Amino acid sequence: AAPRRFYHPNVIDHYERPRNVGLLDKKSSSVGTGLVGAPACGDVMQLQVDVDENGRIRDAKFKTFGCGSAIASSSLATEWIIGKSLDEAAAIKNSDIAKELCLPPVKLHCSMLAEEAIKKALSDYEKKQAALKAASA
Ligand code: FES
Ligand code: FES
Repeated sequence: AAPRRFYHPNVIDHYERPRNVGLLDKKSSSVGTGLVGAPACGDVMQLQVDVDENGRIRDAKFKTFGCGSAIASSSLATEWIIGKSLDEAAAIKNSDIAKELCLPPVKLHCSMLAEEAIKKALSDYEKKQAALKAASA
C-alpha cells in the first residue's frame, strides 16, 4: 500500500471511516453478491446489495482486501447505491467514483473494481429473482 501522503483527503476519509463494511446474508433471495479481483495487484472486493420489494436497494455492504483507494471506492459505492433503483445503481461509472475520490491514473483500476462489483451484485440478484420466478411459474 502507498504511504498515506499519496492519498487525497477524500480517500483517507473513506479509508479511515469506511461506510457499510460487513456482510449480508448471501442465501437471502433479496441479496445479490458481487465478488471481483484485480489481476494487476491481487486485491479483492466483495459488494452486496439488499433489494426491497419495489426494486430499491435498501442496504449495501462491502468487504475489501486491498489498497486504500479500493477500500475508499467500495465505501463510496455502497453509500451511493443505497436508496437507488437497480437501473440507477447500474449506471454508476468508475469514472464518477475516481473523480469524487480524486484518484490518480495508477489507481483507476481500484474504482473499476467497485463498478464491476456493483454490476456483479446486481446481476446476481437478478439471477436469483429470475430463478424464483421460474420456480413459481
Ligand atoms: Fe496496496 Fe493494492 S496497492 S494493496
Ligand atoms: Fe489494486 Fe487498488 S491497487 S485495487
